Amino acid sequence: MEVGSEGRRACDYSSTNEEGKGCKKQVSSNNLFRAILETRMRDRRVQRRDLKLVNDFDSAADVVYYHGDCRELLQQVPRNFFQLIVTSPPYNIGKEYENKLDLDTYIKQQGEIIDLCVDKLKEGGSICWQVGNHVNGEIVPLDIILYPLFKKHGLKLRNRIMWHFGHGLHATKRFSGRYETILWFTKGDDYYFNVDPVRVPPKYPAKKYFRGAKKGQYSCNPMGKNPSDVWEIPNVKANHVEKTEHPAQFPVELIERLVLSMTKEGDWVCDPFMGVASTAVAAILHNRKAAGAEKVAKYVTIGKKRLQLAAEGKLETRPMGKPVYEPDWEQPEMLKGMKYLLSKSGQPLEGGLEMFLESK
Ligand SMILES: C[S@@+](CC[C@H](N)C(=O)[O-])C[C@H]1O[C@@H](n2cnc3c(N)ncnc32)[C@H](O)[C@@H]1O
Repeated sequence: MEVGSEGRRACDYSSTNEEGKGCKKQVSSNNLFRAILETRMRDRRVQRRDLKLVNDFDSAADVVYYHGDCRELLQQVPRNFFQLIVTSPPYNIGKEYENKLDLDTYIKQQGEIIDLCVDKLKEGGSICWQVGNHVNGEIVPLDIILYPLFKKHGLKLRNRIMWHFGHGLHATKRFSGRYETILWFTKGDDYYFNVDPVRVPPKYPAKKYFRGAKKGQYSCNPMGKNPSDVWEIPNVKANHVEKTEHPAQFPVELIERLVLSMTKEGDWVCDPFMGVASTAVAAILHNRKAAGAEKVAKYVTIGKKRLQLAAEGKLETRPMGKPVYEPDWEQPEMLKGMKYLLSKSGQPLEGGLEMFLESK
């Protein structure tokens, strides 16, 4: 049985508890619809495939994983080559893989890499630059700072996607940060975008047209709705099924959404800051090709292993479209915690509520 990133079991979708402990939820139409979409996404993933994985650029490869500086890899690539470039660069906040630079030097370095990326991007292709905030006494929103580095090339901003997630540092002197952004730019106006493979369940599946020729008919798209520009996808922390020793991994499902909507099968996807190859995993799971660079050897080793497993259909990833974990308040431990919190809250419980809790 599959155990999800938050310890939930796949049988959350089943209508009975016959698959094991902790599976008490009754099926709801929304969960069912999500399950159908999820299965559809899984079906799209490539199950078994020989993988031609090489270290230096080779247009006949499936994956190019360059160990070294991304500028060296990008210089090997022909102009106008990639359909999609998606990356999360270092944020310059002192993670184990980065030397903290002063902001001007950091922006200059990012500019050099962005210039190369734009040069290697196809006309009609997309660049998705995923960043959070640089923290230095105050927060500095990196996407706002980097925006002009793309605009100077005439790229068009199509979305500023808010990636919202549930886990991170607990701030004490400001609100805890729970989002990062993805700037999605295209090279030109005639760009490829197909929302159908990444649609999500509609909020009101029973909604009907209330006037006109279609009055009384269901108005939802049966493929689901556009996922909008606010994405709630769990980030890769300790309990996530994809966690490796890399401190800042992409969740594969985040990149799958970009790959499926912005590329076709056989297209090339590039991640200049490849880390443990999450972008390349998303690409090969959907029959695309991938190239990227990583300067830390141990991440390259981990990434190559993940790619082999992915090609064989054995890499565990959080399924696309899987609902985000919601606590089961009926669980005995949760109830205990709730009773404790209420007893410490300094407000007496109203009689009916106290009796109800006691009955649990
Ligand atoms: C934010 S992490 C990206 C992690 C990646 N998205 C993943 O899912 O594993 C940035 C990565 O870029 C690498 N890196 C930093 N500067 C680099 C450079 N100039 N060339 C290649 N890799 C670099 C770091 O070692 C780090 O692993």
